[in-house]
Amino acid sequence: MSTQAPGRAAVLAGLGASLPVKVLDNHEITSRLDTSDEWIRTRTGIAERRVSGPGESTVDLAVAAGRRALASAGLAGSEAVDAVVLATSTADQLCPASAPQVASRLGLDGVAAFDLNAVCSGFVYALATGGGLIAGGVARRVLVIGADTFTSLVDPEDRTTVPIFGDGAGAVVLRAGLPDEPGAFGPFDLHSEGELAELLWVEAGGSKHRNSADPRDHYLVMQGTAVFRHACARMAESSRAVLEQAGWMVGDVDRFVGHQANIRILQSTAKQLGLPVDAVVANIQRVGNTSAASIPLALADACADGTLESGHRVLLSAFGAGLTWGSTLLRWPDVVPG
Ligand code: COA
Repeated sequence: MSTQAPGRAAVLAGLGASLPVKVLDNHEITSRLDTSDEWIRTRTGIAERRVSGPGESTVDLAVAAGRRALASAGLAGSEAVDAVVLATSTADQLCPASAPQVASRLGLDGVAAFDLNAVCSGFVYALATGGGLIAGGVARRVLVIGADTFTSLVDPEDRTTVPIFGDGAGAVVLRAGLPDEPGAFGPFDLHSEGELAELLWVEAGGSKHRNSADPRDHYLVMQGTAVFRHACARMAESSRAVLEQAGWMVGDVDRFVGHQANIRILQSTAKQLGLPVDAVVANIQRVGNTSAASIPLALADACADGTLESGHRVLLSAFGAGLTWGSTLLRWPDVVPG
């Protein structure tokens, strides 16, 4: 699915992030699994990641990131936004959704609030959904949060997934605006391919296989090489689609903020697109793959350290389990993370 921004666009008005306190570095992993700091760094680009502890569930992290995004937008009070869209595949409970709890804890009681599960592509899907609520006149402002605690799904004995995943949350405030103003998101390009769900999934615990006797069925299983190949191809393809819709040339892109799954995926995608390596925004070294939180966390870090400057033309592209993938664009606005 591809969309062209209609008359009313969703404009980035605030940005915030939140990470758990506990840092898990490669050395701690190598002390209990058959791997090495060198292997993890060279194959993934990751040196450390954050792991949630007590008081740092997906809802807790989402609330902290959401609060900072609202402050960054200069908004307060129960009418700060009309809706909360929470992109997550690790909600606090299997049922209900976590977004209403996030909204209540932010003092936004009564607003529309729902979860959206497109795994690591969730934030881009949620931006499109929040933008749709604004374009359709349903909401004037929307809080879009990407929050995940994938360390709760990872088998602690699995050396292929433990080094990759970390926990975190990032959030943006969207406000109604015009498609040609700085910060306006769009067009969007969104896709899925369910036949490949088994490449990255947790088999049991849902309605089909409710309780498996094998505890490993309740953990995330990943076919890494196949996922790697699809991630590069799909993010490049989707990026080209939004660039074409927007009438941007590859050379117009100042910064490429891709899903932080593996530094080699980011570099390979950039190379396929013909983007210079210094256009790639990466914080994966410090946070690992934080699933739906990955892109907003990278945006918040890059904005805070000056990698993203007002006026930069920014390409966002995500890929995740499902499979799902999608991309969008914006000109970076004058915004200070909360
Ligand atoms: N430490 C040491 N060796 C490891 C290892 C680890 N943590 N994990 C796997 N290996 C081994 C494998 O067993 C394999 O050994 P073998 O050749 O004896 O069979 C070897 O390293 C190479 O494995 P391979 O899977 O081919 O490596 P790779 O270069 O593809 O890198 C990933 C593995 C997981 C880093 C890579 O495939 C990847 O990043 N995939 C995408 C993951 C991802 O992005 N997931 C989320 C998507 S949203």
